Amino acid sequence: MMMDQAGKLREMIQTRIDNSSLSKENENPDSHKKTRFICVTSGKGGVGKTNFSINLGIALSRLGQRTVVIDADLGLANIDVVAGTIPKYTLNNLLYSDMNLEDILGNGPDGLKIISGASGMFNLLDLPYEKVQLLIHHFHELYEMFDIAIIDTGAGLSKNILAFAGASDDIIIITTPEPTSLTDAYAMVKAITRENKLSKISVVINQAESSKEGHQYFEKINNASSKFLNYELEKLGVIMDDVSVPKAVKQQQPLLIKFPFSTAAKNIELIALKLINTDQTVDVPTNEYDGFMNRLISLFR
Ligand SMILES: Nc1ncnc2c1ncn2[C@@H]1O[C@H](COP(=O)(O)OP(=O)(O)OP(=O)(O)O)[C@@H](O)[C@H]1O
Ligand SMILES: [Mg+2]
Repeated sequence: MMMDQAGKLREMIQTRIDNSSLSKENENPDSHKKTRFICVTSGKGGVGKTNFSINLGIALSRLGQRTVVIDADLGLANIDVVAGTIPKYTLNNLLYSDMNLEDILGNGPDGLKIISGASGMFNLLDLPYEKVQLLIHHFHELYEMFDIAIIDTGAGLSKNILAFAGASDDIIIITTPEPTSLTDAYAMVKAITRENKLSKISVVINQAESSKEGHQYFEKINNASSKFLNYELEKLGVIMDDVSVPKAVKQQQPLLIKFPFSTAAKNIELIALKLINTDQTVDVPTNEYDGFMNRLISLFR
């Protein structure tokens, strides 16, 4: 009987696990720590995801975490504008030419690595099977290279955004205090929790007028979530509305480089610290292919 595609993928990955556990027996287990996939998303567009992703990446990199930011906004790639980098290669080269993940890694500031998306190029779930295999094959390289992979997605309830979210260990939903942004964020939580209760969902309130206001808005969305979805959200932090952010954007430099002492920069650094410290609460995997990979595979069942 012909095996289904997901079956083949699982078998392929199982073979890798078997091979790698054989070859790794005598090595230091710490050097094969699982990569933590963090998906940054939002209900409404333009709430600060890309700025947050890049600057969080810089903060984590400065804290000694090997970090990569992946531009998975498959509609409109713009991570390079915010990071101030010029991409030589993009995910396109990975899938449609003979390159490895290592070849398409861009250098961001302070040791941060960046994988650029390509505008309007592909929809993850519409990719032909052999391209999915190729993508999984390449993502496998991340497990050896990075502690943290931040996936910057687009906004809204599209299939591929929910796919990335569902496959990640952590989902960070960004919202501003604007009512439409909050209700769209709640709709996002609802859609994600309908399909998967495994990933941890946390919320960042961006562009708050005060810390107090930020925390109040978190309570609003968390009350709705716990009451109607029976799901407790994690409060990851509040980022102040800060004119340094648009100033840095205009100069095409990341906030943490251009204005390292600004309020928003300090807020993001605090979030980076909190993320690292909650690392241990994530369930301990039996091997590095658990988590992101298995969940990605399950999407193709
Ligand atoms: N904390 C902040 N204070 C002031 N302005 C901010 C803040 N965060 C973001 N902004 C403004 O919001 C704009 C949009 O940010 P960004 O591009 O990161 O949003 P996005 O969610 O990635 O958008 P998209 O949904 O289009 O991908 C920025 O150019 C910046 O001017
Ligand atoms: Mg963006």
